[in-house]
Amino acid sequence: MNETAITDSIKNYYGKVLNSSQDLKTSACCTADAFPKHLRALLKDVHPEVVERFYGCGSPLPPALEGRTVLDLGCGTGRDCYLLSRLVGENGRVIGVDMTDEQLDIARTYRDWHAERYGYARSNVEFRQGYIEDLASLGIADNSIDVVVSNCVVNLSPDKRRVLSEIFRVLKPGGELYFSDVYADRRIPEQLKLEPVLLGECLAGAFYWEDFRRALQDLGCPDVRIVSESPIDIDDDEVHAKIGMIGFRSVTIRVFKLPLEDRCEDFGQVATYRGTIAGHPHFFDLDDHHHFESGRPLRVCGNTADMLGGSRYGRHFELLGDKNVHFGLFDCAPPNSSTNLTSGAACC
Ligand SMILES: C[S@@+](CC[C@H](N)C(=O)[O-])C[C@H]1O[C@@H](n2cnc3c(N)ncnc32)[C@H](O)[C@@H]1O
Repeated sequence: MNETAITDSIKNYYGKVLNSSQDLKTSACCTADAFPKHLRALLKDVHPEVVERFYGCGSPLPPALEGRTVLDLGCGTGRDCYLLSRLVGENGRVIGVDMTDEQLDIARTYRDWHAERYGYARSNVEFRQGYIEDLASLGIADNSIDVVVSNCVVNLSPDKRRVLSEIFRVLKPGGELYFSDVYADRRIPEQLKLEPVLLGECLAGAFYWEDFRRALQDLGCPDVRIVSESPIDIDDDEVHAKIGMIGFRSVTIRVFKLPLEDRCEDFGQVATYRGTIAGHPHFFDLDDHHHFESGRPLRVCGNTADMLGGSRYGRHFELLGDKNVHFGLFDCAPPNSSTNLTSGAACC
């Protein structure tokens, strides 16, 4: 596999071929994934040219970001960076990384425009040009980032394991990786992996879900949580003829930099959401099957207790119990969404 050929092909697609999301041939980038209600109002304050060139496949914008440092991998023209700018507040910080000049030129054009719109003395967003496989070259230090987000980008990388390893290097302990990407229900045949349109449309490079899960496990992260997922339609006849035998889904996942177990173990722990996360007064969804109603205690496995207690969500939960007494494997409920793609999710 020629890594430079893949990178050049992607740069050409996002720098020269596409001018707006209307130019895409499939819904892989830009799925119909509903934009969260509490964030819709913020979108009105993002510059139209930035919104027009949004090529993401989800809404990787987690809550509880006030004052945090967030890194957006493959930020494109910056739609998510500018939404995050608002969510972290004036004292927070957003760093967007992308390799394509044309994308970053547009992103940078509107820095001051957004700062002024939000009433900030200066922009809290910076854009760095470079590769998501090598964040060290961009000066992003070990354990320096609270939250890493990414929207439909990791599939485009010729070295996805290196990207994941960089993410875990830069995240602070307890930090969160929250990203949306395209996943395949099987490994992509070698002969399709270099097709420029299939690559650019976020299909040819898609991780087979189980390989993604294994890559995370190899990095010491055995518990990946699915927040939401939706099927991807391939309407274009030519694209369908080439790759229509494969099922693709857009999946938003949540992973923490924490020492977790590879199965959910029961220590008799209970978590109660305090209802204190901004924009989430009534409930908080950790993933597609952990729905915490405010004030309602829920039995949780050891990993879920650690995710809540060991991350920035900790102060929003009351956690009862510790790991002194073990009651065996946790009797997890099956995920409530249909996950033919993700049947082997590590935990619960
Ligand atoms: C599908 S677009 C998504 C852009 C943006 N996240 C959004 O939601 O609009 C993919 C972006 O990732 C960038 N990209 C792809 N591979 C990259 C890599 N290896 N390093 C840095 N940027 C990359 C491309 O230049 C492009 O801007």
